[in-house]
Amino acid sequence: MQLKDKVALITGAGRGIGQSIAVAFAKEGAKLVLSDLKKEFLTETETLAKQAGSPAITLTEGNVAKGEEVNEIVKIALDTHDRIDILVNVAGITKDGLLAMMSEQDWDDVLSINLKSAFLFTKACARPMMKQRSGAIVNIASIVGIAGNAGQANYSASKGGMIALTRTTAKELAKRNIRANAIAPGFIKTKMTDKLSPELIEKMKEHIGLGRLGEPQDIANVAVFLVSDASSYVTGQTIVVDGGLVI
Ligand SMILES: NC(=O)c1ccc[n+]([C@@H]2O[C@H](COP(=O)([O-])OP(=O)(O)OC[C@H]3O[C@@H](n4cnc5c(N)ncnc54)[C@H](O)[C@@H]3O)[C@@H](O)[C@H]2O)c1
Repeated sequence: MQLKDKVALITGAGRGIGQSIAVAFAKEGAKLVLSDLKKEFLTETETLAKQAGSPAITLTEGNVAKGEEVNEIVKIALDTHDRIDILVNVAGITKDGLLAMMSEQDWDDVLSINLKSAFLFTKACARPMMKQRSGAIVNIASIVGIAGNAGQANYSASKGGMIALTRTTAKELAKRNIRANAIAPGFIKTKMTDKLSPELIEKMKEHIGLGRLGEPQDIANVAVFLVSDASSYVTGQTIVVDGGLVI
């Protein structure tokens, strides 16, 4: 087991990519601190992670865009385990629209929930990780944070910001043996992409080299690598997991 007894804090763990990462970490023996907007969103993930063999699961709730709520989640993790080995920033939303029509509110909401949240969690976890002199942080960005996407000015900016935040985090914390990396998924089958029309999905598939949408497990596999000792010399990187959409 690659993560035996490591303490992993995962946001947005109630479904989709966050759930898949939680279960993959559980299979590798990690103790989990799961977070979502409401604890009840985490019931299914808790059951799956238990079945997968996690030795300890703590459920927390809060809005990742609010500093006080983030600090409370991190405090619960530290009160329970006295350390945090792994942080995975997954929680995110979309509020799409063409730039010329986009409201200031939609811009602010997406930037706060997707980007500011990663800053808040990284800041709160950096202190205990610095004390431990070890830690691994993974930010779930997006391919559109690299390539841009019409209709997603707010979302693509938030994900591009996450990639830059990852690099800076890696530079600031490397001396303390803390690594930070990002994953940039392409189109992954979750509730987030359920919103897209079947016609658009078929059109997208034509552009994906491997000819299919990704599964949450495709992202979880890379997340396990990035938080395990197998990647102990990898930091500040963004790994694109998009089936060959952008090459
Ligand atoms: N699905 C894709 O194709 C895709 C592609 C690239 C990147 N991503 C990114 O991966 C991450 C997960 O995406 P997903 O597809 O699993 O999405 P999802 O909508 O299925 O899950 C997102 C989770 O985040 C939680 N969340 C939302 N707002 C929150 C808030 N303010 N505070 C706390 N929790 C909150 C939701 O409750 C949900 O459990 C997101 O950051 C998303 O941008 C997804």
